[in-house]
Amino acid sequence: MPEPTTALRAAPVVIGCWAWGDRRTWGYRTRFGDDDLRAAVEALDAAGLRWFDTAEVYAGGRSERLLGDLLAGRPDFAVSTKFFPYPWRLGAGQFRRALDASLRRLKRDSVQLYQVHHEVPAALARRWAAHLAAARRDGVIEAIGTSNLSAPALRVVVEALAEHGERVVAHQVRYNLCDRRVERTDVPDLCREHGITLLAHSALGQGLLSGRYRAGTAMSGRRAFPVQVLAQAEPLLALLDRYAAKLDVTTAAVALAWLRHRGATPIVGVHDRAQAEGVAAGVPVVLPETMAKRLDAVSAPWRGKS
Ligand SMILES: NC(=O)c1ccc[n+]([C@@H]2O[C@H](COP(=O)([O-])OP(=O)(O)OC[C@H]3O[C@@H](n4cnc5c(N)ncnc54)[C@H](OP(=O)(O)O)[C@@H]3O)[C@@H](O)[C@H]2O)c1
Repeated sequence: MPEPTTALRAAPVVIGCWAWGDRRTWGYRTRFGDDDLRAAVEALDAAGLRWFDTAEVYAGGRSERLLGDLLAGRPDFAVSTKFFPYPWRLGAGQFRRALDASLRRLKRDSVQLYQVHHEVPAALARRWAAHLAAARRDGVIEAIGTSNLSAPALRVVVEALAEHGERVVAHQVRYNLCDRRVERTDVPDLCREHGITLLAHSALGQGLLSGRYRAGTAMSGRRAFPVQVLAQAEPLLALLDRYAAKLDVTTAAVALAWLRHRGATPIVGVHDRAQAEGVAAGVPVVLPETMAKRLDAVSAPWRGKS
């Protein structure tokens, strides 16, 4: 396994495991099961896509456990997980217990990237920076990441870690063609300035950008897209479909290629073989400039109001 900063920069996509073990939002054991997850891992391995993202809170720890089972004996797969910054977990001992519990579930001695899941006040961020640095010194985390931070909060963490001789290697934010709000912040510039890999989570808008869900599609459960969202997304989805046909790839592949064109690395949720093979088939797609520009224009409403 190459050094994590280099390996993550080279990864065309990171595989998201929020759905693994999650019944209520994603339909674990109703829409897909353990055999599907195993088949997905096999297909991703065959395609050389070997970086997985999870979190201690996903499915109450079951996502980490399933990932640990499926990747057992495979140190060539990289895993990122996330610490949930509950305000009562301030002490070094509490931080380390959470990390050790993740490692036990993942059946690993270390993780390639350990991320703080959400923004916290600056004073708390500085405390956790010290704990993160200590865990790096102990070799149980190979690199440090952050998630869902505003630009000022990211700057605080960058500076706090620098005091310990450490750096933020990756920062993840919700970013896709239907949610471009991060572009109106200083986060992308800050990432460029500090060599931080920008990871785009929910890269397919929780499945909306697969193009399968359209106005009139019946959908139930917690992930159901409101009718107005489907109606608003229709011109964008139609354009994605058109480009997918022209490039002879899937609609999802075009949406992921757009993120790479914007300098972000997609984290895409995959839970069966077909999705894994679809994501792998889309890796070589490079969007022609004209298509990228047109997608920028049609998705401009999702940048939000200035
Ligand atoms: N840091 C954070 O706070 C945070 C928050 C959210 C997510 N994340 C990370 O980002 C990951 C991805 O985000 P997400 O899980 O919200 O969802 P997503 O990647 O936006 O969408 C996943 C869905 O896209 C569809 N899909 C996947 N591969 C496909 C393919 N090849 N062709 C067509 N459709 C395909 C599937 O939809 P169907 O199920 O409908 O088939 C799949 O369930 C998460 O698993 C997690 O690791 C992080």
